[in-house]
Amino acid sequence: MAKQTIKDLDFKGKKALVRVDFNVPQTKDGEVSDDRRIRSALPTLTHILDQGGSLILVSHLGRPKGDPEADAAFRMDKVAARLQELIGRPVQKADDTVGPDAQAKCAALKPGEIVVLENVRFNKGEKKGDPEFAKQLAGLADCYVNDAFGTCHRDEASMLAVPEQFPSDQRAIGLLVEKELQILDQLLGQPKPPMIAVMGGAKVSDKIGVIESLLKKVDKLLIGGAMTYTFLKAQGHSIGMSRCEEDRLDVAQHLLKLGGDKIVLPQDHLVTTSLDPNEAKTTVIEGSDLPEGQIGIDIGPKTAEAYAEIIRNAGTVVWNGPMGKFEDEPFRKGTIAVAEAMAASPAVTAVGGGETAEAVEQFGLADKVSHVSTGGGAFLEALEGKSFNSLRVIPDRD
Ligand code: 3PG
Repeated sequence: MAKQTIKDLDFKGKKALVRVDFNVPQTKDGEVSDDRRIRSALPTLTHILDQGGSLILVSHLGRPKGDPEADAAFRMDKVAARLQELIGRPVQKADDTVGPDAQAKCAALKPGEIVVLENVRFNKGEKKGDPEFAKQLAGLADCYVNDAFGTCHRDEASMLAVPEQFPSDQRAIGLLVEKELQILDQLLGQPKPPMIAVMGGAKVSDKIGVIESLLKKVDKLLIGGAMTYTFLKAQGHSIGMSRCEEDRLDVAQHLLKLGGDKIVLPQDHLVTTSLDPNEAKTTVIEGSDLPEGQIGIDIGPKTAEAYAEIIRNAGTVVWNGPMGKFEDEPFRKGTIAVAEAMAASPAVTAVGGGETAEAVEQFGLADKVSHVSTGGGAFLEALEGKSFNSLRVIPDRD
Protein backbone atom coordinates (compact mmCIF):
# COMPACT_ATOMS: atom_id res chain seq x y z
CA MET A 1 0.00 0.00 0.00
CA ALA A 2 1.38 3.41 -0.98
CA LYS A 3 2.10 5.91 1.77
CA GLN A 4 0.73 9.43 2.08
CA THR A 5 3.29 11.69 0.40
CA ILE A 6 3.98 15.41 0.38
CA LYS A 7 1.78 15.64 -2.73
CA ASP A 8 -1.20 14.82 -0.47
CA LEU A 9 -0.53 17.66 2.00
CA ASP A 10 -1.23 21.39 1.70
CA PHE A 11 1.85 23.34 2.81
CA LYS A 12 0.55 26.86 2.24
CA GLY A 13 1.55 28.98 5.23
CA LYS A 14 2.71 25.89 7.14
CA LYS A 15 5.99 25.11 8.85
CA ALA A 16 7.09 21.63 7.83
CA LEU A 17 9.43 19.68 10.08
CA VAL A 18 11.34 17.57 7.56
CA ARG A 19 13.46 14.70 8.92
CA VAL A 20 16.25 14.42 6.37
CA ASP A 21 19.31 12.15 6.39
CA PHE A 22 22.14 14.64 6.04
CA ASN A 23 24.55 12.17 7.66
CA VAL A 24 27.11 12.85 4.95
CA PRO A 25 30.76 11.78 4.70
CA GLN A 26 33.16 14.48 5.94
CA THR A 27 36.86 15.22 5.43
CA LYS A 28 39.20 15.37 8.45
CA ASP A 29 38.50 19.13 8.58
CA GLY A 30 34.77 18.55 8.77
CA GLU A 31 34.04 19.58 5.16
CA VAL A 32 31.24 17.75 3.37
CA SER A 33 33.08 15.31 1.09
CA ASP A 34 30.02 13.83 -0.62
CA ASP A 35 26.77 15.81 -0.81
CA ARG A 36 24.65 13.15 -2.55
CA ARG A 37 22.28 12.82 0.41
CA ILE A 38 21.73 16.59 0.47
CA ARG A 39 21.15 16.73 -3.30
CA SER A 40 18.73 13.80 -3.08
CA ALA A 41 16.47 15.70 -0.65
CA LEU A 42 16.19 18.80 -2.88
CA PRO A 43 13.03 17.73 -4.81
CA THR A 44 11.10 17.41 -1.52
CA LEU A 45 12.45 20.67 -0.12
CA THR A 46 11.70 22.72 -3.24
CA HIS A 47 8.22 21.19 -3.53
CA ILE A 48 7.32 22.35 -0.02
CA LEU A 49 8.77 25.83 -0.58
CA ASP A 50 7.02 26.16 -3.96
CA GLN A 51 3.73 25.25 -2.26
CA GLY A 52 4.10 28.22 0.12
CA GLY A 53 5.55 26.34 3.10
CA SER A 54 8.66 26.91 5.19
CA LEU A 55 11.23 24.29 6.21
CA ILE A 56 12.56 23.18 9.58
CA LEU A 57 15.17 20.55 8.74
CA VAL A 58 16.34 18.01 11.27
CA SER A 59 19.03 15.36 10.86
CA HIS A 60 21.75 13.49 12.67
CA LEU A 61 25.38 13.67 11.59
CA GLY A 62 27.73 10.91 12.70
CA ARG A 63 27.53 9.21 16.07
CA PRO A 64 28.24 11.88 18.72
CA LYS A 65 29.39 10.55 22.10
CA GLY A 66 28.17 13.34 24.36
CA ASP A 67 31.57 15.07 24.68
CA PRO A 68 31.06 18.64 23.35
CA GLU A 69 34.69 19.05 22.28
CA ALA A 70 34.93 15.79 20.35
CA ASP A 71 31.40 16.23 19.02
CA ALA A 72 32.10 19.68 17.54
CA ALA A 73 32.98 17.89 14.27
CA PHE A 74 29.36 16.79 14.09
CA ARG A 75 27.77 20.24 14.18
CA MET A 76 25.49 20.93 11.24
CA ASP A 77 27.01 24.26 10.13
CA LYS A 78 28.92 22.95 7.10
CA VAL A 79 25.96 20.86 6.05
CA ALA A 80 23.67 23.91 6.25
CA ALA A 81 26.18 25.93 4.22
CA ARG A 82 26.32 23.24 1.53
CA LEU A 83 22.51 23.11 1.42
CA GLN A 84 22.44 26.88 0.91
CA GLU A 85 24.76 26.54 -2.12
CA LEU A 86 22.73 23.70 -3.59
CA ILE A 87 19.24 25.11 -3.03
CA GLY A 88 20.18 28.68 -3.97
CA ARG A 89 18.27 30.31 -1.09
CA PRO A 90 19.37 31.56 2.33
CA VAL A 91 19.58 28.80 4.94
CA GLN A 92 19.65 29.69 8.65
CA LYS A 93 21.33 27.40 11.14
CA ALA A 94 20.09 27.05 14.73
CA ASP A 95 22.68 26.43 17.44
CA ASP A 96 20.46 23.94 19.24
CA THR A 97 17.70 21.51 18.30
CA VAL A 98 14.81 22.40 20.62
CA GLY A 99 16.43 25.11 22.77
CA PRO A 100 15.96 28.90 22.74
CA ASP A 101 17.77 29.51 19.44
CA ALA A 102 15.78 26.88 17.53
CA GLN A 103 12.53 28.09 19.11
CA ALA A 104 13.20 31.73 18.19
CA LYS A 105 14.28 30.93 14.63
CA CYS A 106 11.34 28.60 14.03
CA ALA A 107 8.83 31.04 15.53
CA ALA A 108 10.04 33.77 13.16
CA LEU A 109 10.08 31.53 10.08
CA LYS A 110 8.11 32.88 7.09
CA PRO A 111 6.91 31.03 3.97
CA GLY A 112 9.85 30.26 1.69
CA GLU A 113 12.39 30.32 4.55
CA ILE A 114 14.62 27.50 5.75
CA VAL A 115 16.22 26.67 9.09
CA VAL A 116 18.52 23.71 9.78
CA LEU A 117 18.43 22.57 13.42
CA GLU A 118 21.55 21.43 15.26
CA ASN A 119 22.44 17.70 15.15
CA VAL A 120 19.45 15.88 16.63
CA ARG A 121 21.74 13.27 18.24
CA PHE A 122 23.24 15.97 20.49
CA ASN A 123 20.05 15.42 22.52
CA LYS A 124 19.95 12.32 24.73
CA GLY A 125 16.21 11.99 24.07
CA GLU A 126 16.78 11.26 20.37
CA LYS A 127 18.35 7.79 20.73
CA LYS A 128 15.99 6.89 23.57
CA GLY A 129 12.91 7.89 21.59
CA ASP A 130 11.95 10.10 24.54
CA PRO A 131 8.34 11.38 24.20
CA GLU A 132 9.12 14.63 26.07
CA PHE A 133 11.90 15.48 23.62
CA ALA A 134 9.61 14.44 20.75
CA LYS A 135 6.93 16.87 21.97
CA GLN A 136 9.41 19.74 22.03
CA LEU A 137 10.64 19.00 18.53
CA ALA A 138 7.16 18.50 17.10
CA GLY A 139 6.05 21.75 18.81
CA LEU A 140 8.22 23.74 16.39
CA ALA A 141 6.14 22.84 13.33
CA ASP A 142 2.66 22.28 11.84
CA CYS A 143 3.33 19.08 9.94
CA TYR A 144 5.94 16.31 9.58
CA VAL A 145 7.72 14.83 6.59
CA ASN A 146 10.03 11.81 6.60
CA ASP A 147 12.51 12.11 3.74
CA ALA A 148 15.33 10.34 5.59
CA PHE A 149 15.39 6.96 3.85
CA GLY A 150 18.89 6.22 5.17
CA THR A 151 17.59 6.43 8.76
CA CYS A 152 14.23 4.65 8.31
CA HIS A 153 15.53 1.51 10.07
CA ARG A 154 16.11 3.50 13.30
CA ASP A 155 13.39 3.98 15.94
CA GLU A 156 14.91 7.24 17.21
CA ALA A 157 12.64 10.04 18.39
CA SER A 158 12.78 12.14 15.21
CA MET A 159 11.82 9.08 13.15
CA LEU A 160 9.03 7.64 15.32
CA ALA A 161 7.90 9.52 18.44
CA VAL A 162 7.94 12.89 16.64
CA PRO A 163 5.60 11.97 13.75
CA GLU A 164 3.27 10.38 16.31
CA GLN A 165 2.79 13.87 17.79
CA PHE A 166 1.10 15.11 14.61
CA PRO A 167 -2.45 14.36 13.41
CA SER A 168 -2.21 11.54 10.86
CA ASP A 169 -3.27 13.81 7.98
CA GLN A 170 -0.25 16.00 8.77
CA ARG A 171 2.36 13.26 8.31
CA ALA A 172 3.85 12.25 4.98
CA ILE A 173 6.87 10.75 3.30
CA GLY A 174 8.99 12.89 0.98
CA LEU A 175 9.78 12.26 -2.67
CA LEU A 176 13.11 10.58 -1.91
CA VAL A 177 11.57 8.02 0.44
CA GLU A 178 8.76 7.48 -2.09
CA LYS A 179 11.31 6.77 -4.85
CA GLU A 180 13.36 4.43 -2.66
CA LEU A 181 10.23 2.46 -1.69
CA GLN A 182 9.13 2.21 -5.33
CA ILE A 183 12.45 0.70 -6.42
CA LEU A 184 12.43 -1.71 -3.46
CA ASP A 185 8.94 -2.80 -4.54
CA GLN A 186 10.32 -3.46 -7.99
CA LEU A 187 13.23 -5.46 -6.59
CA LEU A 188 11.25 -7.47 -4.08
CA GLY A 189 7.84 -7.69 -5.76
CA GLN A 190 8.03 -9.23 -9.20
CA PRO A 191 11.51 -8.51 -10.46
CA LYS A 192 12.16 -9.06 -14.16
CA PRO A 193 14.18 -12.30 -14.47
CA PRO A 194 16.90 -13.30 -14.41
CA MET A 195 17.48 -11.57 -11.09
CA ILE A 196 21.08 -11.20 -10.00
CA ALA A 197 22.51 -9.99 -6.69
CA VAL A 198 26.12 -8.85 -6.44
CA MET A 199 27.44 -8.87 -2.88
CA GLY A 200 30.83 -7.56 -1.90
CA GLY A 201 32.50 -5.85 1.01
CA ALA A 202 34.60 -7.06 3.85
CA LYS A 203 32.35 -9.07 6.12
CA VAL A 204 29.93 -11.95 5.67
CA SER A 205 28.63 -11.19 9.18
CA ASP A 206 27.12 -7.87 8.03
CA LYS A 207 25.17 -9.56 5.25
CA ILE A 208 23.94 -12.90 6.62
CA GLY A 209 20.27 -11.87 6.77
CA VAL A 210 20.23 -10.19 3.40
CA ILE A 211 22.06 -13.06 1.66
CA GLU A 212 19.69 -15.63 3.17
CA SER A 213 16.72 -13.65 2.08
CA LEU A 214 18.02 -12.79 -1.42
CA LEU A 215 18.83 -16.44 -2.10
CA LYS A 216 15.06 -17.06 -2.14
CA LYS A 217 14.63 -14.52 -4.93
CA VAL A 218 17.69 -14.46 -7.14
CA ASP A 219 18.88 -16.70 -9.96
CA LYS A 220 22.53 -16.01 -9.12
CA LEU A 221 24.35 -14.32 -6.23
CA LEU A 222 27.82 -13.16 -7.24
CA ILE A 223 30.34 -12.78 -4.43
CA GLY A 224 33.28 -10.38 -4.35
CA GLY A 225 35.26 -8.31 -1.84
CA ALA A 226 37.11 -9.64 1.17
CA MET A 227 34.14 -11.79 2.21
CA THR A 228 35.17 -14.09 -0.66
CA TYR A 229 37.97 -15.44 1.51
CA THR A 230 35.72 -16.42 4.39
CA PHE A 231 33.66 -18.42 1.87
CA LEU A 232 36.76 -19.99 0.27
CA LYS A 233 38.23 -20.94 3.63
CA ALA A 234 34.88 -22.43 4.62
CA GLN A 235 35.18 -24.62 1.51
CA GLY A 236 38.62 -25.76 2.68
CA HIS A 237 40.77 -23.65 0.35
CA SER A 238 44.00 -21.91 1.32
CA ILE A 239 43.58 -18.14 1.38
CA GLY A 240 47.13 -16.94 2.16
CA MET A 241 47.06 -13.81 4.31
CA SER A 242 43.62 -12.68 3.07
CA ARG A 243 41.12 -11.21 5.46
CA CYS A 244 38.85 -13.85 6.94
CA GLU A 245 36.17 -13.98 9.62
CA GLU A 246 37.37 -17.11 11.37
CA ASP A 247 34.38 -17.06 13.72
CA ARG A 248 31.94 -17.00 10.79
CA LEU A 249 33.16 -20.02 8.84
CA ASP A 250 30.11 -22.00 9.96
CA VAL A 251 27.82 -19.20 8.73
CA ALA A 252 29.60 -19.17 5.37
CA GLN A 253 29.19 -22.96 5.14
CA HIS A 254 25.50 -22.64 5.94
CA LEU A 255 25.03 -19.98 3.23
CA LEU A 256 26.95 -22.04 0.66
CA LYS A 257 24.73 -25.02 1.40
CA LEU A 258 21.58 -22.90 1.24
CA GLY A 259 22.61 -21.24 -2.02
CA GLY A 260 23.93 -24.32 -3.85
CA ASP A 261 24.88 -23.40 -7.40
CA LYS A 262 23.19 -19.98 -7.11
CA ILE A 263 26.27 -18.72 -5.25
CA VAL A 264 29.11 -17.81 -7.60
CA LEU A 265 32.59 -17.29 -6.16
CA PRO A 266 35.51 -15.66 -8.01
CA GLN A 267 37.48 -17.93 -10.36
CA ASP A 268 40.58 -15.72 -10.21
CA HIS A 269 41.98 -13.11 -7.83
CA LEU A 270 44.17 -10.06 -7.79
CA VAL A 271 46.64 -10.64 -4.95
CA THR A 272 49.24 -8.46 -3.27
CA THR A 273 51.76 -8.78 -0.47
CA SER A 274 51.06 -5.26 0.78
CA LEU A 275 47.86 -3.29 1.37
CA ASP A 276 49.82 -0.09 0.76
CA PRO A 277 49.01 0.85 -2.85
CA ASN A 278 52.47 2.43 -3.28
CA GLU A 279 54.26 -0.76 -2.33
CA ALA A 280 51.81 -3.23 -3.80
CA LYS A 281 53.13 -5.72 -6.35
CA THR A 282 50.00 -7.34 -7.68
CA THR A 283 49.63 -10.68 -9.47
CA VAL A 284 46.64 -12.60 -10.76
CA ILE A 285 46.04 -16.07 -9.31
CA GLU A 286 43.69 -18.47 -11.07
CA GLY A 287 41.56 -20.98 -9.18
CA SER A 288 40.50 -21.00 -5.56
CA ASP A 289 43.75 -21.44 -3.64
CA LEU A 290 45.98 -18.50 -2.81
CA PRO A 291 49.73 -18.88 -2.17
CA GLU A 292 51.25 -18.34 1.29
CA GLY A 293 51.74 -14.71 2.22
CA GLN A 294 49.45 -13.31 -0.50
CA ILE A 295 46.38 -11.16 0.20
CA GLY A 296 43.32 -11.32 -2.06
CA ILE A 297 42.53 -7.66 -2.77
CA ASP A 298 40.20 -7.65 -5.82
CA ILE A 299 38.44 -10.08 -8.13
CA GLY A 300 40.63 -11.15 -11.06
CA PRO A 301 40.06 -10.23 -14.74
CA LYS A 302 38.32 -13.50 -15.70
CA THR A 303 35.89 -13.13 -12.80
CA ALA A 304 35.30 -9.48 -13.69
CA GLU A 305 34.43 -10.45 -17.28
CA ALA A 306 32.23 -13.37 -16.19
CA TYR A 307 30.32 -11.18 -13.69
CA ALA A 308 29.96 -8.39 -16.27
CA GLU A 309 28.48 -10.86 -18.78
CA ILE A 310 25.92 -12.12 -16.23
CA ILE A 311 24.97 -8.53 -15.33
CA ARG A 312 24.61 -7.48 -18.98
CA ASN A 313 22.18 -10.38 -19.59
CA ALA A 314 20.13 -9.87 -16.42
CA GLY A 315 16.55 -8.55 -16.05
CA THR A 316 17.19 -7.11 -12.58
CA VAL A 317 20.43 -6.52 -10.68
CA VAL A 318 20.97 -5.37 -7.13
CA TRP A 319 24.49 -4.57 -5.98
CA ASN A 320 25.87 -3.98 -2.49
CA GLY A 321 29.54 -3.95 -1.56
CA PRO A 322 32.68 -3.28 -3.63
CA MET A 323 34.60 -6.12 -5.32
CA GLY A 324 37.95 -5.02 -3.89
CA LYS A 325 39.74 -2.21 -2.08
CA PHE A 326 38.50 0.23 -4.73
CA GLU A 327 39.63 3.37 -2.91
CA ASP A 328 43.19 2.57 -4.07
CA GLU A 329 43.83 2.76 -7.80
CA PRO A 330 45.74 -0.56 -8.17
CA PHE A 331 42.89 -2.50 -6.58
CA ARG A 332 39.79 -1.08 -8.28
CA LYS A 333 39.49 -2.82 -11.67
CA GLY A 334 36.94 -5.40 -10.46
CA THR A 335 34.67 -2.78 -8.93
CA ILE A 336 34.93 -0.66 -12.10
CA ALA A 337 34.06 -3.68 -14.27
CA VAL A 338 30.91 -4.39 -12.24
CA ALA A 339 29.92 -0.69 -12.22
CA GLU A 340 30.41 -0.42 -16.00
CA ALA A 341 28.40 -3.59 -16.60
CA MET A 342 25.59 -2.23 -14.41
CA ALA A 343 25.63 1.02 -16.40
CA ALA A 344 25.57 -0.83 -19.76
CA SER A 345 22.93 -3.39 -18.76
CA PRO A 346 19.33 -3.01 -20.01
CA ALA A 347 18.25 -4.52 -16.64
CA VAL A 348 16.69 -2.64 -13.74
CA THR A 349 19.90 -1.86 -11.84
CA ALA A 350 19.96 -0.79 -8.20
CA VAL A 351 23.01 0.08 -6.14
CA GLY A 352 22.89 0.42 -2.36
CA GLY A 353 25.24 0.95 0.55
CA GLY A 354 27.56 3.85 1.28
CA GLU A 355 30.76 2.47 -0.25
CA THR A 356 29.09 1.04 -3.35
CA ALA A 357 27.22 4.27 -4.01
CA GLU A 358 30.47 6.18 -3.51
CA ALA A 359 32.25 3.92 -6.03
CA VAL A 360 29.57 4.40 -8.68
CA GLU A 361 29.66 8.18 -8.12
CA GLN A 362 33.44 8.24 -8.28
CA PHE A 363 33.43 6.40 -11.63
CA GLY A 364 30.87 8.90 -13.01
CA LEU A 365 28.26 6.16 -13.53
CA ALA A 366 25.61 7.11 -10.96
CA ASP A 367 23.30 8.53 -13.66
CA LYS A 368 23.62 5.41 -15.79
CA VAL A 369 22.10 2.93 -13.33
CA SER A 370 18.36 2.82 -12.55
CA HIS A 371 18.80 3.80 -8.91
CA VAL A 372 21.52 4.60 -6.38
CA SER A 373 20.03 4.26 -2.92
CA THR A 374 20.84 6.79 -0.21
CA GLY A 375 20.51 3.98 2.33
CA GLY A 376 23.29 1.89 3.83
CA GLY A 377 21.91 -0.22 6.67
CA ALA A 378 18.36 0.82 5.74
CA PHE A 379 18.79 -0.46 2.17
CA LEU A 380 20.12 -3.82 3.40
CA GLU A 381 17.36 -4.23 5.98
CA ALA A 382 14.70 -3.34 3.42
CA LEU A 383 16.19 -5.86 0.96
CA GLU A 384 16.06 -8.42 3.72
CA GLY A 385 12.31 -7.80 3.81
CA LYS A 386 12.19 -6.01 7.18
CA SER A 387 9.48 -3.39 7.66
CA PHE A 388 10.22 -0.09 9.40
CA ASN A 389 8.32 1.41 12.35
CA SER A 390 9.21 4.88 11.05
CA LEU A 391 7.07 4.17 7.97
CA ARG A 392 4.33 2.39 9.86
CA VAL A 393 3.45 5.72 11.53
CA ILE A 394 2.95 7.43 8.15
CA PRO A 395 -0.61 6.66 7.02
CA ASP A 396 -1.39 4.79 3.82
CA ARG A 397 -2.84 6.81 0.99
CA ASP A 398 -6.65 6.67 0.70
C1 3PG B 1 23.48 5.73 7.68
O1 3PG B 1 24.45 6.42 7.31
O2 3PG B 1 23.37 4.51 7.40
C2 3PG B 1 22.34 6.44 8.37
O3 3PG B 1 22.50 7.81 8.36
C3 3PG B 1 22.12 5.89 9.75
O4 3PG B 1 23.22 6.20 10.56
P1 3PG B 1 23.50 5.34 11.89
O5 3PG B 1 23.96 3.98 11.42
O6 3PG B 1 24.55 6.09 12.64
O7 3PG B 1 22.21 5.22 12.63
